[in-house]
Amino acid sequence: MRILSGIRPSGTLHLGNYIGAIQQWLGLQREHEVYYMVADLHAITTPYDPKTFQAQIRDVVADYLAAGLDPKHATIFVQSHVPEHTQLMWVLSSLTPTGELNRMTQYKDKLRGGALANAGLLTYPILMAADILAYRAECGPVGEDQVQHVELARDLAKRFNRMFGKTFPEPQPLLSQGKRIMSLKEPDKKMSKTNDDGIALTDAPAVIQRKIAKAVTATRGGGTSAGVENLFLMLRTFAEPNVVGRFERAERDGAIKYAELKTALAEAIVHHFAPFRKRRKEILADATALDRVLTDGARRARLIAGETLAAGYTTIGLR
Ligand code: TYM
Repeated sequence: MRILSGIRPSGTLHLGNYIGAIQQWLGLQREHEVYYMVADLHAITTPYDPKTFQAQIRDVVADYLAAGLDPKHATIFVQSHVPEHTQLMWVLSSLTPTGELNRMTQYKDKLRGGALANAGLLTYPILMAADILAYRAECGPVGEDQVQHVELARDLAKRFNRMFGKTFPEPQPLLSQGKRIMSLKEPDKKMSKTNDDGIALTDAPAVIQRKIAKAVTATRGGGTSAGVENLFLMLRTFAEPNVVGRFERAERDGAIKYAELKTALAEAIVHHFAPFRKRRKEILADATALDRVLTDGARRARLIAGETLAAGYTTIGLR
């Protein structure tokens, strides 16, 4: 199966990105033909600093590699290095009703959050569809907030096939258990890159411990607290099964001490990311090797995306 996914270089990657996306990517890279990109073109739809942007893009590549993505198995590249994505986007734009774009939850959330309503922010999901369809990918491993966008890619593939003949597979979103990791401070909101509400993959052990210690566990209006559920979700991801079992039993028996749960969780996260922190430093110290990964990735990606675009142009009568 062909698979494509990506992450915007809009800030430091956090545990939501890791559990929702990267962990799934790791599991898929040996079994499937996978394309993992840094979505730099998506990142410029919201304010960013051109002076530090290249460094931010390279940081995300280093995150990918340090997390265990292997260029021998995965094609790792930067979105703007493959111009076929934006070319295919234009073709797909002509098949996209603007009403569908206006209804996108992420778009509406961003506007509500004060973002400028530029055309890039509105058409962002069409570019995402082009990212996926350029590889004729069947699947996009993402977190829950991106599902609606993958569904648009599926609708556009269907529409294209209906109008011009069977060309694209209909891609499906692929979700993990941790499809929605919540903010530690406000557990009714998702953990995000823009708020200081999450754990960055690069956080030092002391920072991780402090942030987890301060995580909100209080219930609002009875029932299980969203904050506690979120801590359990992370514990199941990173801790040994016997540790998870101990806290699950204590929770059931009403004997749980949240301070102990937090200590165990912080320990598990610190432990899980210890090799990551070390590898990331080494990767960033070797700029030539990192460049090689990206040059090679773009070359491999363009081979496939170029083929798709050429065939698509012919199909729709542009050639
Ligand atoms: P982005 O950069 O906002 O997020 C990257 C990935 O992380 C997931 N994610 C989460 N998962 C669980 N809990 C959270 N709190 C959380 N926050 C983020 C996202 O769902 C996503 O999978 N437009 C995309 C990037 C993109 C893309 C693509 C993805 C561009 N083209 C094609 C898939 C296929 C984005 O901005 O993701």
